[in-house]
Amino acid sequence: MIKDFINIKDFTGEQLNKLLDLAIAEKAAFKAGKLPATLRNKTLAMIFEKPSLRTRVSFETAMTHLGGHAVYLSQADIGLGSREAVQDIARVLGRMCNAIMARTFNHEYVEQLGTFAPVPVINGLTDYSHPCQAMADLMTVQQESGKLAGRTMLFIGDGNNVALSLAAACAKLKVKFILASPEGYELQDEFVGALPEEFFRIIHDPRAAVAEADAIYTDTWVSMGQEAEKDQRAEHFKGFQVNADLLAAAPDGVIVLHCLPAKRGLEITDDVFEAHSGTIFAEAENRLHFQRTLLNVLIGKGGIE
Ligand code: CP
Ligand code: NVA
Repeated sequence: MIKDFINIKDFTGEQLNKLLDLAIAEKAAFKAGKLPATLRNKTLAMIFEKPSLRTRVSFETAMTHLGGHAVYLSQADIGLGSREAVQDIARVLGRMCNAIMARTFNHEYVEQLGTFAPVPVINGLTDYSHPCQAMADLMTVQQESGKLAGRTMLFIGDGNNVALSLAAACAKLKVKFILASPEGYELQDEFVGALPEEFFRIIHDPRAAVAEADAIYTDTWVSMGQEAEKDQRAEHFKGFQVNADLLAAAPDGVIVLHCLPAKRGLEITDDVFEAHSGTIFAEAENRLHFQRTLLNVLIGKGGIE
């Protein structure tokens, strides 16, 4: 039984598949008004060192749907690692709350919360990874395409936190992942780096793989915390924009995904964003549905079996 949801690589493909199937089934039950309030009187502590729209609203709303409650804790409130040691915050929250979700710069902080808190800890994005996003993304692909195994995901842009979790989840679920990034912005990670080429490839010309993509993904070129590199990155990522010219070479029916927030006119053009906004906002909505299932499993069942 795994208590926390911090790193995709800790789970088997079977465990991730089951979570996705359950999330899809619970989404349907929720839409039909048939999802029971299983977390009555339970509380989720939500720690945010960085801004958020989707992660905050989806976790808080998911707790409300399940009859529970969420408490928002900003860095200014609690001083994670500055006003108080991470391991002490973990133990206090573990005594008062039923789970902790944390968005931090330093990935180690979320790991430490997991080690010291007796309750489930969920990674709500770190500089290193964004596992809940990857699961909502693949849930969207599964809903749009019917089946995941054998599909090809082309991620165009920065080898960042979102790319890392998605690459790991794709490998576990037998989806081929191709990262098209400028030189110097590749994904560097022990787990994905050791994957067979069939499941993980890095290229430097986005056009080289567009024709084989079932889904094309992009994210900002400037992640939270990298604002000082904005101009330099805009220069380096020229040619890595998802635009109509690039999509002209993609197969019919290709899915376009974006974790949001999007910088229209940079990593994706306005026209492509709008043409694919149905999928992109379904993807955003799936954050709510996947995480509601995750909370049900972690708090309700004590972890992932
Ligand atoms: N995609 C995502 O995590 O969005 P927020 O940063 O708004 O939470
Ligand atoms: N890579 C982005 C994702 C935002 C959800 C960031 O870390 O800012």
